[in-house]
Amino acid sequence: MQHLIDLNEWTAGQIRDVIALARDIKKKPARYVNAMRGKTLLMIFEKPSLRTRVSFETGVTQLGGHAIFYDTGTSPLGAGKESMYDTVKTVSRYVDMIMARLFEHAKIEEMARESSVPVINALTNFAHPCQILGDLLTIQEKKRRLKGLTLAYLGDGNNNVTHSLLYGCSKMGIHIRVGCPPGREYKPDAGVVREALRIARRLKTAVKITRDPREAIEGADVVYTDSWMSYHVPTLKLNERVKVFTPFQVNAALMKLARKDAIFMNCLPALRGYEQTAEVIDGPQSVVFDQAENRLHIQKAIMIKLLEQRRRGVEKKG
Ligand code: CP
Ligand code: NVA
Repeated sequence: MQHLIDLNEWTAGQIRDVIALARDIKKKPARYVNAMRGKTLLMIFEKPSLRTRVSFETGVTQLGGHAIFYDTGTSPLGAGKESMYDTVKTVSRYVDMIMARLFEHAKIEEMARESSVPVINALTNFAHPCQILGDLLTIQEKKRRLKGLTLAYLGDGNNNVTHSLLYGCSKMGIHIRVGCPPGREYKPDAGVVREALRIARRLKTAVKITRDPREAIEGADVVYTDSWMSYHVPTLKLNERVKVFTPFQVNAALMKLARKDAIFMNCLPALRGYEQTAEVIDGPQSVVFDQAENRLHIQKAIMIKLLEQRRRGVEKKG
């Protein structure tokens, strides 16, 4: 059974294939209108969402299937009346695929272990693979290649987007530099960095974690930032985090150190005046809405690939 839990579990070939399929879907959407006919996707949400919820639900409709939005706030699971195990065992009997946006990464791993249908990670505190697959599609479109580019990520290094970027970039031969404050609260997980370094060594690319934002951004082809207050970060941390992250704010002065033709990315939601200034996110280098659009195309491709894989698995068994 194949799932999408994080990018370390997908090969470079699988990542390339899903990007290629997304490009085809984007170009010729009419070809795929029956790709999920009669199929149901269950979408479980513990956290807020605009892009993920709307793009998945729209994507399933455009592929001829049906999506169910299920807020854990109205579920026995959320009320503490039912275990994850029983929930997943039950819904696997109804639906063809599950996607979930959860707090704890261990919970989505448990889901994948217990589910008899494919599970897609729609963001946990630790990983956001759908986002990074969509971002790789955007970078490929804008730069016409992935291999050999340099991506600079500035800001909160200890979050889902940074971790999945570390895996995604290293697998695709993109040099990655993370500029973030020192300390365990702000730096990427050491295990993820070790694994990204191991992959990058094979491809002869670089993975660098630095506390100097200028060193991170110098000569970069892609400049990426994300919220300083991810969904799981308590509001009372705001003042402390604004102080710590302000030197990593992507502003026009820092952008000047990147390549002239560098693109600016943010997975959104974004706050102007925090992780980037308005002149950057609203400026000519920003590709944030193309990035948001590509979530739709890549997720259609992810769902088609996982359903194909499952069909092949079932045929083999049968
Ligand atoms: N980028 C992203 O996942 O956005 P949402 O939180 O709105 O889904
Ligand atoms: N790091 C952010 C990503 C939002 C899509 C968060 O977890 O809130």
